[in-house]
Amino acid sequence: MGRPVITSGLRTGYHLVRSGLFRYGGGDPERAHEAMIGWLGRLPATTRATVRAPVDVAGIRFPNRVGLAAGMDKDGTAAAAWTRFGFGFAELGTVTALPQPGNPKPRIFRAVASQGIVNRMGFNNHGAGALAETLRAKGVARGNRALGIPLGISIGKSKVTPLEGAVDDYLTSLRALAPLADYVAVNVSSPNTPGLRALQSARELAQLLSALTSEAAALSPRPVPIFVKLAPDLVGDDFAETMAAINHSAVAGVIATNTTLARDGLAPSDRGLVDEPGGLSGRPLTRRALEFVEAVAGATDRPVMGVGGIMSPADGARMFGAGATLLQIYTGFIYEGPALVRGLNELEGNP
Ligand SMILES: Cc1cc2nc3c(=O)[nH]c(=O)nc-3n(C[C@H](O)[C@H](O)[C@H](O)COP(=O)(O)O)c2cc1C
Repeated sequence: MGRPVITSGLRTGYHLVRSGLFRYGGGDPERAHEAMIGWLGRLPATTRATVRAPVDVAGIRFPNRVGLAAGMDKDGTAAAAWTRFGFGFAELGTVTALPQPGNPKPRIFRAVASQGIVNRMGFNNHGAGALAETLRAKGVARGNRALGIPLGISIGKSKVTPLEGAVDDYLTSLRALAPLADYVAVNVSSPNTPGLRALQSARELAQLLSALTSEAAALSPRPVPIFVKLAPDLVGDDFAETMAAINHSAVAGVIATNTTLARDGLAPSDRGLVDEPGGLSGRPLTRRALEFVEAVAGATDRPVMGVGGIMSPADGARMFGAGATLLQIYTGFIYEGPALVRGLNELEGNP
């Protein structure tokens, strides 16, 4: 059987699973998510990665270019499962220095007709220290591929920490996780922690990135590479100044994009979500994310991880065309399942 036949069978099979998943817990997306993560967390680990055109980025060897985006597995509960689905890397987190419950529920909404999700989770997580323990228990150390693929870890600011204390908050998480992460992602782009996106502005970002990259260098002679994740709503002069700050910093690369505050591209039956606070992802974000990645790739020589609205292999091909070196998916994985990972890995021209 050829690869496309297997991929199309996988897709049909997943759509059956999905109809159950979308009805699970009375249709509550968060309960379905927790059940899925719990179930995946019980699968036996495998170290056999899907090796497809391996690529070296920031000193890390990625077995393939298709990664799991942050937020799916915040506490690393299912960290051992992602290799099995064909991912070439997974970004765990976002975790914060302090454990925190996140925003009141409900806080995830499916926009099914639009193939989107609106979420305002607000970094619900058990804290950076707990993630470190979880990963140690699974045998993970930086670079050891205990789970078959490189693991990025996304860090954010604890909600109770005022913006003036943000640098120390991120540093606490970095110190806890640098011995475990293959790369660290600095999340300054979630729309769901009040004031967080202010850290994207050039002055604040320069300070934050300088503190984190210096600390990484002090912690190890081979400093953990640091990526910074941006929001697609950053435009104009602000965008140019942020990119200049990134180019002056020692970060390894950029992850673009996080969810958007815009509400374009929602189908009529999903219009009820226009006034629901939170970030929008999936198909309604596809075009904006592509434009944004193209702008980022045009403004820096550092590698870019392209994420946002990759719902099909064709979207992934366009993301590579826009200048992404690696891809990440979240909402596409919810709607299309492992067939999307496989389809992206089968892309012609995925060099
Ligand atoms: C429910 C949910 C939770 C998310 N949590 C995080 C997070 O904790 N940290 C982060 O950097 N991005 C988070 N994201 C954003 C995704 O990583 C990704 O950047 C965004 O959804 C766009 O990609 P997509 O269209 O493939 O979903 C989250 C997205 C969703 C839908």
